[in-house]
Amino acid sequence: MKLNILVTAGDGIGPEVTSEAVAVLKETAALGGHDFAFTEKRIGGVAIVQDGTPLPDDTLAAALNSDAVLLGAVGGNEFNSLPPDKRPEAGLLKIRAELGGFANLRPAFAFKELAVNSPLRAEIVDGADILFVRELLGGLYFGQPRGWDKATNDSGGRAWNTMVYSREEVARVARIAFKLAQVRRRKLTSVDKANVLEVSQLWRATVNEVAAEFPDVMVEHQYVDAMAMHLMNRPRDFDVVLTENLFGDILSDESAVITGSLGMLPSATIGGKVNLYEPVHGSAPDIAGKGLANPMGAILTAALILRHSGGLESEAAAIESSVRKVLEQGYRMPDLARGNTQGLTVLSTKEMGAKVRETMKEQLSAVGS
Ligand code: NAI
Ligand code: MG
Repeated sequence: MKLNILVTAGDGIGPEVTSEAVAVLKETAALGGHDFAFTEKRIGGVAIVQDGTPLPDDTLAAALNSDAVLLGAVGGNEFNSLPPDKRPEAGLLKIRAELGGFANLRPAFAFKELAVNSPLRAEIVDGADILFVRELLGGLYFGQPRGWDKATNDSGGRAWNTMVYSREEVARVARIAFKLAQVRRRKLTSVDKANVLEVSQLWRATVNEVAAEFPDVMVEHQYVDAMAMHLMNRPRDFDVVLTENLFGDILSDESAVITGSLGMLPSATIGGKVNLYEPVHGSAPDIAGKGLANPMGAILTAALILRHSGGLESEAAAIESSVRKVLEQGYRMPDLARGNTQGLTVLSTKEMGAKVRETMKEQLSAVGS
């Protein structure tokens, strides 16, 4: 398998965590005889300083020419006074828009060993394994008309946004979600507010139409308000959760609490010209450069590259099970070792990356022997 991967490490802990993800990908390539090529380009604050813009043209060109983009994180306190369109985050929004991915995949997986880090009881989160598929290019965040009329007579003026979806926009993201459900536990929960919103009625009708193409997948519909509650009461009951843009933004953040730490969460945005892969966390300037950053979110993001851009399911699964094994053996990053650390070994970013690679090597050679 040949893959051209563009690495845009970005700011803060971005370079630290992406270099561990790249090292895991290189190890995977070496073990499986794959040909992965890596190109590095600037994005975010580091690009503002060196190139005068958060997304230089050659970064975008390289992204469009690659098979997959691995992004670290962008942002830093020194840029907070810049106007929104000049800030590091503008580079991220622009590359997302240019690559055009409309399906944002966010797995929320509760590792047993991390249950102590969740505010929910272990017996509720243990075994939870949810894949959020959030529509990313439509809905309230992009709908027209939008605006703020500050000149009206009442003191606050008026402001408005529009939640709008076409049948085609719903169908294409639904199809991706159903296909993903087919290779998981074959259950899809579609989230809407069809008791109140016409846009949700179209959403539900379209999901039901697409469901007819996937008779092997069980479909259920949940109202978003009830879903917010079910996710905390019985997260193990859900497999693939399909949502529109705003509902998915809220519910996927809510579900981060079942996984124990922000530093563990990967994401992928697919369906556009080139898939974009990023850990969910930001640039964490408070811990940057100290070897404290948890690289597992980035390493699990590397697994998603193999699964969704490389079609390398067993290699992706090997990375995920290596992460699980390392946790089982009691190795932790500081963000996962709050409270009682008895019996745990706390590692640095580099040590954790090396531990995951070593475990992966053992696992893959055990399979081969
Ligand atoms: P953040 O995710 O960077 O950090 C939140 C908290 O979680 C911090 O205490 C941080 O130390 C901790 N944390 C995050 N990732 C971690 C990891 N891998 N290991 C251990 N601890 C980790 O979010 P925050 O503080 O709101 O934003 C910081 C900067 O990052 C801002 O400039 C923000 O705009 C940017 N940001 C960028 C994102 C991206 O590039 N996708 C996403 C979110 C924020
Ligand atoms: Mg959010």
